[in-house]
Amino acid sequence: MSKQKAAITAVAGFVPEDKLTNFDLEKMVETSDEWIYSRTGIRERRILKKGLGLSYMGEKAVSKLLEKSGTDPKEVDLIICATITGDYVFPDSANQIALKVGATNAFGFDISAACSGFLYALHTGSKFIETGTYKKVIIVGGDVMSSIIDYTDRTTCVIFGDGLGAVLLEAHDDYGIIDAELKADGSGVDFLVARAGGSRKPTSQETLDSREHLVYQNGGPVFKRAVQGMSSTVKEVMGRNGLTNDDVTWVVPHQANMRIINTVASQLDFPLEKVMNNIELLGNTTAGTLPLCINEYESQLRPGDKIILTAFGGGFTWGSIYLTWAYDGSLQS
Ligand code: COA
Repeated sequence: MSKQKAAITAVAGFVPEDKLTNFDLEKMVETSDEWIYSRTGIRERRILKKGLGLSYMGEKAVSKLLEKSGTDPKEVDLIICATITGDYVFPDSANQIALKVGATNAFGFDISAACSGFLYALHTGSKFIETGTYKKVIIVGGDVMSSIIDYTDRTTCVIFGDGLGAVLLEAHDDYGIIDAELKADGSGVDFLVARAGGSRKPTSQETLDSREHLVYQNGGPVFKRAVQGMSSTVKEVMGRNGLTNDDVTWVVPHQANMRIINTVASQLDFPLEKVMNNIELLGNTTAGTLPLCINEYESQLRPGDKIILTAFGGGFTWGSIYLTWAYDGSLQS
């Protein structure tokens, strides 16, 4: 008898109403709609109103998730929240979301793996289902990147936006998460980092003046490592599971830059019709991109679809997860 799989049995997402377009950015830094769109594929991103915080988006998405799946919040055992922009330095945001949605029997914790956070959280959560420890686990991925972006730095502010997605994991006999290949390389800290605001360099007037509590990125090396990391781990999980390109229904890549997505697709020889993307209107929502993509494409998903999620982010962290889809997405509202 094969063991039970951890299947995604529902998905939901939330993006704030307020838009920050390329034309808005033209008024803030020296850039142009033409440069941003041709170099990144992004036209606009969403920005959360100040003072709301990550758990506001978490509450919206998880409430929708519970409603869609007909789940009583009290049945939820565990919430894992992947984010680098939680409401507070501490405590975690998973338990703030649990509080807001009435998941009073759940415990939760956050995972910090930047753009790969959703993959790390999904892999972790799947183990609690596969072992039979818990029945209902919610995986949240999202970020309020506008809270840590330097809107005077044209090389980073054009990329990122705010948004969050969530999935419900439950046991399934046939479909679910099959395999994962997760990687990390701590030397990536030199290329993508918020240098201040942590214990190594607590926030001070000096760090505020030097803007070191905001995102610093050296985009060129990140671009190359992202292509390499996503392509190689997709190949690894496909090889290990005997999958050909024809077998794979969808590839869901982290939405960092449309040129990264196109290069990964071309290196793997996947037609773009099989590659999910939503970067044009949302930008890079960090831990939010994968669940938000799945949510957008839900109506096209069918039981047994073979899906590969892949991401790369700060740390560096990267990896791929292979799963089979568990339900008919066209029947969801
Ligand atoms: N508007 C106009 N010009 C810009 C600009 C902007 N928003 N940002 C950078 N430039 C300029 C640079 O200053 C540079 O000018 P120079 O040649 O006079 O020095 C020129 O454009 C090319 O810069 P470069 O950094 O080589 O551009 P790029 O094509 O590599 O694009 C990124 C920059 C950041 C979009 C790209 O490197 C990238 O997407 N990297 C990965 C980011 C990522 O994935 N991050 C999330 C973690 S997963």
